[in-house]
Amino acid sequence: MKRILMVCLGNICRSPLAEGILKSKVDCKNVLVDSAGTASYHVGELPDKRSIEVARKYGIDITDQRSRQFTVVDFDNFDIIYAMDKSNFNNIIGKSRNNDDVKKVKLILNELDNCDDKNVPDPYYGGSQGFESVYKMLDEACNKIANKINN
Ligand code: 4NP
Repeated sequence: MKRILMVCLGNICRSPLAEGILKSKVDCKNVLVDSAGTASYHVGELPDKRSIEVARKYGIDITDQRSRQFTVVDFDNFDIIYAMDKSNFNNIIGKSRNNDDVKKVKLILNELDNCDDKNVPDPYYGGSQGFESVYKMLDEACNKIANKINN
């Protein structure tokens, strides 16, 4: 069983989309996908309406998800931890206990061919167009991740 955790700041916009998109591309009997936020502001909440909408537009239901905060135990429970941006990455690394923990943490867009430490932009304060472009970036990255897992 491969275990993958998607992490953003609030766990209501980007990482719930990443979780839903990757789940749609892998066999959930063999792959565990979850998401979390580095902050606690939205713990227990549904994903943002705009994330729910854009996921629904592409046939993915993410309304079973509830926000939770990343904890140090996640280093034990997951094999790969994908951060949506460099700030999330640094916050996760700040909680690491050893080099094994550090090695698990990656920037999700570095899965794309031209990996040059790009961020998935935080769409929270923008309009629905931001969610559409976040969806497309995550869809591309999740295609790469799913190909690696499935082959
Ligand atoms: P996310 O977006 O990290 O992609 O879930 C955000 C959600 C909430 C806030 C910031 C970013 N906030 O400041 O409440």
